Amino acid sequence: MLFRDDLLSLAPYTPGQTRPGAIKLSSNENPLGPSPRAVEAVRNALDGLNRYPDGASRLLREAIARRYDLDPTQVVTGNGSDEVLTLIAGCSVRPGVNAVTAANTFSEYTFAARLFGANVRKAPLREGRFDPEALLALCDQSTRLMFLCNPNNPTGTYLTHAEVERILRLAPAETLVVLDEAYADYAMAEDFPRSLELLKKYERLVILRTFSKLYGLAGLRVGFALAHPEVAEWMQRVRQPFNNGNLAQAGALAALEDTEFVARSLQINREGMERLTRFLEARKLVYYPSQANFVCFHCAGDARVLFEALLEEGVAVRPLNSFGLSEWVRVTVGAPEQLDRFFAAMDRRFNG
Ligand SMILES: Cc1ncc(COP(=O)(O)O)c(C=O)c1O
Repeated sequence: MLFRDDLLSLAPYTPGQTRPGAIKLSSNENPLGPSPRAVEAVRNALDGLNRYPDGASRLLREAIARRYDLDPTQVVTGNGSDEVLTLIAGCSVRPGVNAVTAANTFSEYTFAARLFGANVRKAPLREGRFDPEALLALCDQSTRLMFLCNPNNPTGTYLTHAEVERILRLAPAETLVVLDEAYADYAMAEDFPRSLELLKKYERLVILRTFSKLYGLAGLRVGFALAHPEVAEWMQRVRQPFNNGNLAQAGALAALEDTEFVARSLQINREGMERLTRFLEARKLVYYPSQANFVCFHCAGDARVLFEALLEEGVAVRPLNSFGLSEWVRVTVGAPEQLDRFFAAMDRRFNG
């Protein structure tokens, strides 16, 4: 049998690990659990499981469009933003072209581009940040995609509005610029990109969002793209007909309206982030200032060793070896009692 041997070098995704009984701070999940309104809507939708879902996810797309003051034709939903990434790559790349991203970022950009045969070029981060000049320098006439992770997973750093706009102005005309804003809901910096404003100006911008983080619905699998209608139409061409199930559509729709849960999620993140950074500073640990729901810190040694030691103490964090940052660890902003456990485990590890 003949298979595509170019897929042999495609590394399988490394998920955040945990073990029974441990506190999981390894996958940037919402520590409050799922949106209660979403849970109720999913329960109410259970009796309709004999029916196929609405293949166009019409109600959900309309609600998202209203939220962002766009037309529903500009919204493409998927089975998590993971799937949306493959829709973008599926309609834009082929063998012989390339995609550009950073060396230390979310692995699914490489997966999506390579799945459809494209090469991936990676620019080093600069002080933990995406480097606009290095990214632009990697582009040529065969660059069809650029993936920007903003804030960046795993460093939590961000590109400013001006930097993203500069990339949109200077990248080759044939390049779609994908701005993955999975964590943008948490960002508070004044110069954080106003991406919707940029979408009105630049047709080649694709914004990616997800219900997995702020809305606490990682297990439901709903993400979406906001794009120019023509770009969205191309993405729809490569989408499977029923990619969001009944429960996913109902849950996401209800979560969008759960303003109380969103407010609590943002508050717990703000307070937890403050405690986490104070803790790291007090221990003189080097970390990147983060705009997300996690922090990335330097552990002066193989991150897997610290990971194992903390897991022994019942706390699962993310060693960043698979991101190419083998001396860095990423920890999700947990609930107050989870952070207490993390601080205690760290102190036993470093002082004990
Ligand atoms: C930067 C980034 N983009 C996208 C995703 C995938 O999100 P989803 O659960 O919507 O597939 C993640 C998940 O961790 C992420 O970190």
